[in-house]
Amino acid sequence: MRRPLLVLVIAIAAVGAFAGGLAWLLDTPKPSPGAPRRERLYLTLCSTCHGADGRGSWRAALFLIRPGTLSDNEAIGQRSDEYLFDIIKHGGAPIGRPGMPGFGATLSDADITELVRYVRGLTRPG
Ligand code: HEC
Repeated sequence: MRRPLLVLVIAIAAVGAFAGGLAWLLDTPKPSPGAPRRERLYLTLCSTCHGADGRGSWRAALFLIRPGTLSDNEAIGQRSDEYLFDIIKHGGAPIGRPGMPGFGATLSDADITELVRYVRGLTRPG
């Protein structure tokens, strides 16, 4: 094999490995078949930043995003359902917490209510 060709093959393999690795890094857990809608929504839309268990994704940390801990009963337990609903619908910007995007344009109010319930389910009492 001629040398330039070998270099080209190695370069293509390196780009492939990089892209594959990046895809693996950025992928999030898939909901199990038959999972309830709220779980599907959460794993699809929220776990990228908040992590599957609400403890914050290290993937988000890579991009210097600090989503806090949704499973923290101290913090979330004190929040009203209205607060959770509003921050999911309108995002954090209106209340000075701009890291959290709003989902009002993509989700119905019914879906947002489902997500509020799901977030409630992440906090363990105590
Ligand atoms: C782009 C990353 C990102 C995505 C996607 C995202 N969030 Fe957030 N979220 C954040 C960040 C960052 C904060 C913290 C904002 C701050 O404190 O400044 C936050 C805050 C929150 C809070 C408030 C927590 C508290 O202590 O007050 C809730 C509730 C929340 N997110 C729910 C969700 C839900 C539900 C989804 C999916 C529909 C979602 N987030 C998607 C980044 C994200």
